[in-house]
Amino acid sequence: MKYNTINQESIAVLVKTFYPTILADKIVSPFFIEKLGDDINSPIWQEHLELLSNFWSSMALGDGDYNGNPLAAHFGMDLTKEAFAQWLHLFAVAIDRVYEPRVGDFFKERSQIIARNFMANLGVLK
Ligand code: HEM
Repeated sequence: MKYNTINQESIAVLVKTFYPTILADKIVSPFFIEKLGDDINSPIWQEHLELLSNFWSSMALGDGDYNGNPLAAHFGMDLTKEAFAQWLHLFAVAIDRVYEPRVGDFFKERSQIIARNFMANLGVLK
């Protein structure tokens, strides 16, 4: 079953669908393993999944549970265009697994805008 509504439940499913694919990916996993380790069931990863669910809830539902600074977390990681492109690809795949197309478009559009903004602010050139 795919969701046709964005709510906290479907956002939690999206996040839990996306991050295991991140950890299994050769291009993006090293950045995450460096910061959070390689065990998605560890307390640090569970905290990250919770944080990211709150982040997307505040984006999509405006429920204000996220108070972090998303850009700041990405300085000093030496992120590349290739890594961003792969992150966006994996996110789009997870979105398509969880949501009906028109609902999923919200996350695709938002993630592309944020990724472009991150790349500009982080000075990602290659
Ligand atoms: C190459 C692409 C990306 C990589 C490798 C990456 C990696 C990471 C890592 C390792 C963290 C944890 C940092 C820490 O706890 O020290 C993090 C945090 C985070 N990322 Fe990304 N990220 C990427 C792109 C994005 C994009 C495009 C978004 C949003 C659309 C995003 C949203 C966030 C948020 C909200 C946090 C939590 C920030 C906080 O601590 O409040 N990331 N990311």
